[in-house]
Amino acid sequence: MSSLTIPRPVPVQRFRLPKKNIPQTPIERTHILKSIRNYVAEYNPVPPLPLEELKVHADRVVEMLRCDPIYRDYIGVLINNELWRETLAAVPFERRLLLLPKCLRVESKCPAPFDEFGLLCKQCGLCTIQDLQTEAERLGYAVLVAEGSAIVMSLIQTGKIEAIVGVSCLSVLERAFPYMEAAAIPGVAVPLLQDDCIDTTVDLDWVWDYIHLTSDDRTRRLDLSALRDEVDFWFTPASLDLVMGGAEGETEKIARDWLARAGKRWRPFLAVAVFQALRESPGAALPEDIRKLAVAVECFHKASLIHDDIEDNDAMRYGEKTLHEEHGVAVALNVGDLLIGEGYRLIGACRISAEQKAEMLGIAANGQRQLCRGQGAELCWMKSPTALTALQVLEIFRSKTAPAFEVALRLGAIYAGLEAHEEVADVLAAYSEALGIAYQIRDDLSDLGKKGETNDIEGLRPSLLLAVASERAQGDQKAMLDALWRRQPGINAEQVEALYLQLKADERAKLLLETYKEEAIRSLRDLENASLKGLLRRVIGKVFNDTEIKGWCKEFEQKNAANRVPAPAEAHLESPLESGMLRA
Ligand code: IPE
Ligand code: MG
Repeated sequence: MSSLTIPRPVPVQRFRLPKKNIPQTPIERTHILKSIRNYVAEYNPVPPLPLEELKVHADRVVEMLRCDPIYRDYIGVLINNELWRETLAAVPFERRLLLLPKCLRVESKCPAPFDEFGLLCKQCGLCTIQDLQTEAERLGYAVLVAEGSAIVMSLIQTGKIEAIVGVSCLSVLERAFPYMEAAAIPGVAVPLLQDDCIDTTVDLDWVWDYIHLTSDDRTRRLDLSALRDEVDFWFTPASLDLVMGGAEGETEKIARDWLARAGKRWRPFLAVAVFQALRESPGAALPEDIRKLAVAVECFHKASLIHDDIEDNDAMRYGEKTLHEEHGVAVALNVGDLLIGEGYRLIGACRISAEQKAEMLGIAANGQRQLCRGQGAELCWMKSPTALTALQVLEIFRSKTAPAFEVALRLGAIYAGLEAHEEVADVLAAYSEALGIAYQIRDDLSDLGKKGETNDIEGLRPSLLLAVASERAQGDQKAMLDALWRRQPGINAEQVEALYLQLKADERAKLLLETYKEEAIRSLRDLENASLKGLLRRVIGKVFNDTEIKGWCKEFEQKNAANRVPAPAEAHLESPLESGMLRA
């Protein structure tokens, strides 16, 4: 730990023996910490590390130290701290959160009341909360004395908080860890010396050092929500005109209108986010050319949707008529073709090196070829459907959905000048593959049970649910699915859906969805660029909206079950701050 510049006041000391899975003496703890520093310096793992990877490192350290394996979790926490140390040091104090557990107080004598955000310390001096809170707030930290996980997660998601210094017991840390990892939030934790939820103690010097940790390089974490809003704005008609030039003639106007109409804009967002994560000065304005690239990527995507709607004979998209329903197949086909041309035109118009341009054009062209092959496999199957395996369907997903993500990510990386490193291209390809498959599985699942705009059953698409059901069906069930493929009359979608549920095809699909999300995380394992790794890890949570949050501290959860703050949804994320979280 660095030398102390600000002396820590000496609070009332209470002595309690540490828990048995925490090294008992400060000397032991210091020895372990030093060894971990050496280990991290030597192997240099890049955060965020998934729990399993962290455990592998912790096991290695246990082995190296020949210490009691009972300390493995403790060592895991310390390794994770070391990985984030420098990043934490670069985050300004005002963007950090100090999270203290209320079990640090002297329960029988503590006069402090609680509100929905946690303990309101009365500064009575009986415990260490007061010293830590006062000092951290003096520095500019937000401080919470609570285990209310929903508040913490919403602070992270709004981008108000970019790093966390936390004090908590090992079991709460283990429960909180996956959320921190998913948010790729720099965080260090100081484990409580006991975990019996009452009158606990902590190594104060250790916390004191962490809250004062600084470096001169005050880089900022990307605010993904703000970036998304900005990218959305680029697709308003006036912004599109700025990037693409005014639309001339009826066909261009239809194309422009379709581009502006709706959509989640994930692909352009990905291109820009990767560029922002990799560029040298992320605070500078976004250059004109990245806008062109973002719009280009969306042009390719929107063209593929127009053609897909024609090929699938879908009448509705975005709650409105599809383009071919509105203008006829011939016009819609032609508008799709125009958008593909627009995409290439925009790439060509960027002021980048000839090498960058050639590489981008090659990647875009390859992405399109791959997409057409995947789409083609699906269309050929629809012409003469036969029993499909889940593996075959996943293969179709791999080629029809993943390329658009890959093109977006790689264009952003090339524009930032990073694709020179070959391993980045490989990681982006592997990541896109897993992300794309997971994305398409979720799309398949979203059809289930809804009278939506499209229906995979009535349209007889090679869905994952159909494939899993086919693999599992027996006797009459098999006959029903056979009849479906042969498009025999008398099969209705509800019956087939009921069969999917009966055969638990939905559960299998959900499991596969999780597996591919994990695969996407795993693909980042060897990425050496920490900001790119952090970004791509966070993107998974954003795209799949993984915001379901459970409590971390069991005891706190029970006591507060009645007046718990609701888990954050993107829509009301401002609330904790607006309602005075910082109690300014
Ligand atoms: C639709 O993609 C096609 C799939 C790969 C599922 P999106 O659902 O991302 O479409 P937009 O961009 O929001 O229109
Ligand atoms: Mg289709």
